[in-house]
Amino acid sequence: MSRILTGIQSTNVPHLGNILGAILPAIEMSKDAQNESFLFIADFHSLTQIKDAEKMRSNTLAVTATWLAMGLDVEKTVFYRQSDIPEVTELTWYLSCVTPYPMLANAHSFKDKSDRLSDVNAGLFTYPVLMAADILLYDANIVPVGKDQVQHLEITRDIASAVNRVFGELLVVPDVKLNKDTMYVPGTDGQKMSKSYDNFINIFLPEKELKEVINKKIATDSTALEDPKDPSANVISALIRLISGDVAADELNQKLIAGGYGWGHAKKDLLQAILTRFEKERAAFDHWMAHPDELNEVLSIGADKARSVAQKTLSRMRNQLGYGA
Ligand code: ADP
Ligand code: TRP
Repeated sequence: MSRILTGIQSTNVPHLGNILGAILPAIEMSKDAQNESFLFIADFHSLTQIKDAEKMRSNTLAVTATWLAMGLDVEKTVFYRQSDIPEVTELTWYLSCVTPYPMLANAHSFKDKSDRLSDVNAGLFTYPVLMAADILLYDANIVPVGKDQVQHLEITRDIASAVNRVFGELLVVPDVKLNKDTMYVPGTDGQKMSKSYDNFINIFLPEKELKEVINKKIATDSTALEDPKDPSANVISALIRLISGDVAADELNQKLIAGGYGWGHAKKDLLQAILTRFEKERAAFDHWMAHPDELNEVLSIGADKARSVAQKTLSRMRNQLGYGA
């Protein structure tokens, strides 16, 4: 049995790219009875960017509601909020003291963020140590991540090995699982869908607002209604392929190529594709968002399960580092 662990930051309401690229594959993996899954909302990490308590709370609830609406079985997984187990910050300190400064200074995600963001704080710099603590606190064996997180995982492995070398075999050195064939979801402008580019689609919006996002954000050319159209001229057909599959996308492409089918019709098809594929999930999301107490209850059950593992690791660490009696 392997313990699989992964986290997702709560810096926004998850968009279609997050859902297809990260959340659904993680839920699929958690269904394998051979594995034990730890999935958490990395809200301490979000503090590097979010400095608004209301936003912090509402994002966490929206991320939680998304996982539940997408079908996560909380009985079979340990699903929790990072900040509910503040022990992770104690471990972060211990790990910091065996982490060579240049290793963090060379992290590309720090270099990238410090070039891009105006708030370049020390939390952004020590972010990989907190991430290492997230993983090592729970003795995770496998951590599935996208390409951008691989360096953070290498840092985690280095830190775990350093602890084991300096203080004795205390921590599990985890393996990285690179999600190579995860979906690449384009945004409304054709670049990778990302909250940073404001090209994302929030599938949970009320129908009218979702329609407006599709109509306004996806730019289409002015080919006349009756003329043939190139299905790759914008992302409509590509998104329909990811949401509804090949048959639906091929059908749309044929209509566009034949002419007599406008971009307005194609946009309606995209709206319909989202409403149909995510009908149940949209209703479930609305239900959960209207019942924050239930969401908090789910998180608190997850926190109890996670805490018992965390406390064992920490007491091992404290003892071996020379703290306590
Ligand atoms: P964003 O780019 O919107 O800031 P994050 O970097 O927070 O998104 O990504 C959270 C998770 O969602 C990661 O596992 C990432 O690989 C996945 N993800 C984000 N955008 C996409 C996308 N356009 N296509 C596929 N997966 C994505
Ligand atoms: N840094 C990850 C991201 O931005 C989120 C994360 C935090 C994480 N802690 C983790 C992922 C531990 C895997 C394991 O996507």
